Amino acid sequence: MQRIVTVTIALAASVVSAAAQPAKKPYEPGLGEFMTATQLRHAKLWFAVQRGNWDLAAFEVDEIKEGLQDAAGLFPTFEGIPVAQMIKTIIDPRIEALEEAVKEKSNVKFIVAFDQLTNGCNSCHAAANKPFIRIQRPTAPPLTNQNLRPRNRNRGSVAPLTPPFDDFAEHSPHLALHLLDPRLERREIRRISGARHRAQ
Ligand code: HEC
Repeated sequence: MQRIVTVTIALAASVVSAAAQPAKKPYEPGLGEFMTATQLRHAKLWFAVQRGNWDLAAFEVDEIKEGLQDAAGLFPTFEGIPVAQMIKTIIDPRIEALEEAVKEKSNVKFIVAFDQLTNGCNSCHAAANKPFIRIQRPTAPPLTNQNLRPRNRNRGSVAPLTPPFDDFAEHSPHLALHLLDPRLERREIRRISGARHRAQ
């Protein structure tokens, strides 16, 4: 009996002291935090494919999917906007198309699916009264502290030129040729300088 009383008093004391401490609110990221992370992954995804790093691309698609699913779980509605429902109807099918493109390593399918995802981001922003948040294809890799190339192509070689960059090839065919095969570039330089030499 003595023991039970002691334990009870000890328990009661700990409850009182716990109650005396201000309750810590668990950290919950805001929707904007999920979005900023999604934005970064959206950009990495584009450059992962540009570099032919399909494993990284698959990883980023998965991260975008998970991030938006978590956002939907925490914010089923946000400022009166049915965020969870919109992610389901707008984003899910576009993520599936991206997954398929990445699985097939199809640049063409990837570009189509990537642009459709981007349009999906923007249609939700417009519907959520944030039409000024406009997502687009990135024009430069977002960070310099992550090598986006596939591991086995790290040493010395040049990133492959893949169809997303066809218009680049169209506008600077010479440089495109160089990226495809540096030896061609050297041959080309020799040809040009040889021709100049002969003309003198
Ligand atoms: C379900 C609707 C919805 C979808 C889908 C959506 N967003 Fe958003 N996004 C929002 C809302 C709402 C905000 C504003 C959040 C706030 O007010 O804190 C936002 C904000 C943002 C911001 C601004 C964050 C900041 O702090 O500057 C970026 C960037 C962004 N979204 C990127 C994306 C990208 C990239 C995608 C697609 C891959 C996407 N969003 C898809 C609803 C959406």
